[in-house]
Amino acid sequence: MKKSNPPHPPVPVWDAAVRLLHWSLVASVAAAWITRNRLGPLHENLGYAALAIACARVAWGFAGRHHARFAQFVRGPAATWAYARAVGAGRAPRHLGHNPLGGWMVVALLGCIGLLGFTGWLYTTDLFWGYGWLANLHEGLGWTLLGLVALHVGGVLFTGYKHRENLVRAMVTGRKAPPTGDDVP
Ligand code: HEM
Ligand code: HEM
Repeated sequence: MKKSNPPHPPVPVWDAAVRLLHWSLVASVAAAWITRNRLGPLHENLGYAALAIACARVAWGFAGRHHARFAQFVRGPAATWAYARAVGAGRAPRHLGHNPLGGWMVVALLGCIGLLGFTGWLYTTDLFWGYGWLANLHEGLGWTLLGLVALHVGGVLFTGYKHRENLVRAMVTGRKAPPTGDDVP
C-alpha cells in the first residue's frame, strides 16, 4: 500500500483583529469611493470610518503580535530589492506573513488613506473650504488609492498563483499551510 505523507494542519497567521480590520477597511473605502460625488456628511463619515480603521491598524502594527507587527514585515531597501529581483526571476520564496513588497504595499495603502482623511477633513474647515488645489489633491489621492488597490489585489492573486495557495481565503480564516523548505516563517 502507498504510504501517505503525514498531514500538515494549517497554522494561524492573521489574528482576528487583522482580518476584521482588513475587511471593514475594504468595505469603508469602497463605500467612501462610491459616494465620492455626493456632497455632505455621507461621504465624509464613510471616509472618517476608513481613517479610523486605518489608524487602528497602525496601532495594532505596534501593539499586536508576530505577523501583525510592522517590525516583522517592513523590510529595508536591500531586502525589498532582493525580493523584487527574485520575483522577476520566478524564484521568490514563500512568506508566511507579508512578503517585503506586500509589506510596503500595506504602508502605501494605509498612508494613502491617512492622507485622504486629512485632506478631506481640511477641505471641510473654514480655513481651507473652497480651495480648488485642495479638492484636486484629495481627488488625486482617491485615484492613487484606486491604483494601489488594483496593484494590491493583482499582487495577491499573482503570489497566490505562484505558490499554489488561496491567500484571500487565508485573510478570511486566518490560517495558512505551515512553512516548508525555503519558506520564510
Ligand atoms: C479598498 C480595498 C483594499 C484595501 C484598502 C486593502 C488593504 C489591505 C491591507 C492594509 C492589508 C494588510 C493586512 C494587515 O496586515 O492588516 C491587506 C492585506 C491583504 N489583502 Fe487587502 N485591501 C483591499 C482590498 C482587498 C481585496 C479586494 C482583496 C481580495 C481579493 C484583498 C486581499 C488581501 C489579502 C489576501 C491580504 C494579505 C496579503 C498577504 O498574504 O500578504 N484586499 N490589504
Ligand atoms: C478613503 C477615504 C476617502 C476617499 C477614497 C475619498 C475620495 C474622494 C474623491 C475621489 C473625491 C472627488 C470626487 C469628484 O470630484 O469626482 C472626493 C471628494 C470629496 N471628499 Fe473625499 N474621500 C475620502 C475621505 C474623505 C473625508 C474623510 C472627507 C471629509 C471629512 C472627505 C471630503 C470630501 C469632500 C468635501 C469632497 C468634495 C470636494 C469638492 O468639492 O470637489 N473625503 N473624495
